[in-house]
Amino acid sequence: MIPEVIPDEAALERALTEPAPELVRWIPSLRGPLVILGAGGKMGLTVAGLARRAALSAACPLEVIAVSRFSDPELRRRIETLGVRTETADLLDPASLERLPDAANVISLVGLKFGTSRDPAMTWALNTLAPVHGIRRYPEARWVLLSTGNVYPQVPLESGGSTEDSPLTPLGEYANAAIARERLFEYAARARGTPGVRIRLNYAVELRYGVLVDIAQRVWRGEPVDVSNGWFNCIWQGDAADRILRALDLAASPPPAFNLCCAPPRSVRGVALEFGRLFDRPVQFSGTESVTALLSNPALLEARLGPPPTSLDAVIQRTAEWIQSGGRTLNRPTGFEVRDGKY
Ligand SMILES: NC(=O)c1ccc[n+]([C@@H]2O[C@H](COP(=O)([O-])OP(=O)(O)OC[C@H]3O[C@@H](n4cnc5c(N)ncnc54)[C@H](OP(=O)(O)O)[C@@H]3O)[C@@H](O)[C@H]2O)c1
Repeated sequence: MIPEVIPDEAALERALTEPAPELVRWIPSLRGPLVILGAGGKMGLTVAGLARRAALSAACPLEVIAVSRFSDPELRRRIETLGVRTETADLLDPASLERLPDAANVISLVGLKFGTSRDPAMTWALNTLAPVHGIRRYPEARWVLLSTGNVYPQVPLESGGSTEDSPLTPLGEYANAAIARERLFEYAARARGTPGVRIRLNYAVELRYGVLVDIAQRVWRGEPVDVSNGWFNCIWQGDAADRILRALDLAASPPPAFNLCCAPPRSVRGVALEFGRLFDRPVQFSGTESVTALLSNPALLEARLGPPPTSLDAVIQRTAEWIQSGGRTLNRPTGFEVRDGKY
């Protein structure tokens, strides 16, 4: 699922939006239009482009509409090049949503994590109000709401990771606003009988951002890698997008939750040492592994949609090549080392 060579961003975006056979078989069953809210961020092009390319491969006429403020006009252009229609909207403004086209299926990628310490009110507003306005606009559609593994507290490695019925008792305002995002979505969906699903994602990774890029950059620059958060779950962003799309079939009322990531967790130290080997550079560490980390167990979703096919070892290899060759990164560090919930 990941090519042997990814020379540039165009090839990377082609790889991220290459539909798997299972998705091509499934996509004709999806009624359009498919609206993707908050598509102007790190995952929007992958999700919208994957849906569009799967529909093209299946020769089905699915209309895909990406909605955002599109603060990055160049990203909007690249999304449109994939045959995706784009619409501008401020999802905090209900009147702005009213102007959007109707949809049979909706995926919400809207959220805010970074900058929470600076402006917590905006984090709470965006994470909670936008999905509620969205449900009011699209009460008849099927919904996938993106959430995060941050809704769980840190747990020991031996626990096997938090499951969907684990208590939601994390640290910090971002994580608690993410719980509020789920709960208000649940409430609004239940009140209208809207079918939905909550997807708790841990670290999507591609070559321009993500926890693997963060660790690789530290090793490449000779900076110490903080191992206090000793383990993590992640998933190739193309696989994540595939599952986000097919999760529309899991929509129900009230909306269930599913964890989305690869198992088993990876060790920060082990991944850093692997980058050191690939770069032929020594690795420096700081801190020591705590007994707990932010870990999720994806077994429930894997039982429904299968395990993600892309090998993380291959992603590590491609990431090393990307960093070594000076490939562009988004400069959006994940904060994988954060243990106090402050972002
Ligand atoms: N990426 C990951 O590794 C990861 C991990 C765990 C969970 N998640 C969840 O997955 C979702 C998608 O991830 P992502 O990385 O793509 O998030 P992201 O980069 O934060 O993208 C969300 C986008 O929503 C748009 N947006 C923000 N405020 C808006 C508003 N008022 N009206 C319209 N659009 C608005 C922004 O684009 P514009 O500036 O163009 O409006 C923003 O870039 C997030 O909700 C996140 O919680 C992601």
